[in-house]
Amino acid sequence: MNKNTKVGIVGYGYVGKAIHNFFKNTFDVAIYDPALGFTNKDDINACDFTVLCVPTPMSADSSVDLSCIEESLSWIKTPLTVIKSTIPPGTTENLRTKYSINSLLCFSPEYIGEGNYPVPYWENIPHPTDMTQHSFHIFGGDVAATKKAIEYWKQAAGPFAKFMQTDSTTAELVKYIENAWIATKITFVNEFYDIASTFGADYNELRELWLMDGRIGRSHTLVYENKRGFNGKCIPKDTNGIVAATKAKGYTPKLLTQVLSINEDFLSL
Ligand SMILES: NC(=O)c1ccc[n+]([C@@H]2O[C@H](COP(=O)([O-])OP(=O)(O)OC[C@H]3O[C@@H](n4cnc5c(N)ncnc54)[C@H](O)[C@@H]3O)[C@@H](O)[C@H]2O)c1
Repeated sequence: MNKNTKVGIVGYGYVGKAIHNFFKNTFDVAIYDPALGFTNKDDINACDFTVLCVPTPMSADSSVDLSCIEESLSWIKTPLTVIKSTIPPGTTENLRTKYSINSLLCFSPEYIGEGNYPVPYWENIPHPTDMTQHSFHIFGGDVAATKKAIEYWKQAAGPFAKFMQTDSTTAELVKYIENAWIATKITFVNEFYDIASTFGADYNELRELWLMDGRIGRSHTLVYENKRGFNGKCIPKDTNGIVAATKAKGYTPKLLTQVLSINEDFLSL
């Protein structure tokens, strides 16, 4: 363990605990999460870098509530902050300006999930709980910030993981294109389940034949009769979030708006 380096984790929920697990054998760790009794901001600001894992819930108008992110960035003073919370495109740059942040700041989309089903990580599918088994890590921001983040990440991740760098807006979009794609795929297969039923065909049989073609990935192609459509903590929130953020910039995503509306119908079945 490199006891000379200390990472601060702000927000110790699902993602914060996974980050802790990722770094615990490599660096010293400090935690800040007042609701859980971790209240020492000085401890965080004595760290070499901070990983920000606070919630970004959906507001009543479907937009992304950034209040926890803003509150955190108003006091974190470590030389580098890596934002792991899912935030709309442009947020990292906007907040850097708003809070006059001169230290290094970047965004890194998180790929753990709350899946309780087996996931073949060896097929480049991120492990649902263990970041040490992730085959890639993405960092978006100024090159100085992404390079610094990779210096820390590579010590915990080792040589087999890929370390990708881009600008912060593209990295922020990556999380949304992933979750909006999953939402769309689930909506599509649920629609085809009903199409197959309309013709008296069995969707499970149809699905296996469809998946003989290697161009179609198997993930998110099952339809659960007792659980139609998509639900859970991230997919609906993030699909609503990207639609709301894009609308606020003057373009209304047509397909994703329909996906959200059709999903409401599936959820009510
Ligand atoms: N859960 C996932 O699978 C997953 C995957 C990828 C990305 N994300 C994103 O990561 C972020 C965190 O998600 P999560 O599932 O870990 O949430 P969570 O609700 O499990 O944990 C959030 C933690 O942050 C704490 N917190 C709230 N406000 C705070 C503040 N101002 N300062 C410090 N701590 C604060 C809460 O007490 C809580 O313990 C969200 O933006 C989410 O969209 C989650």
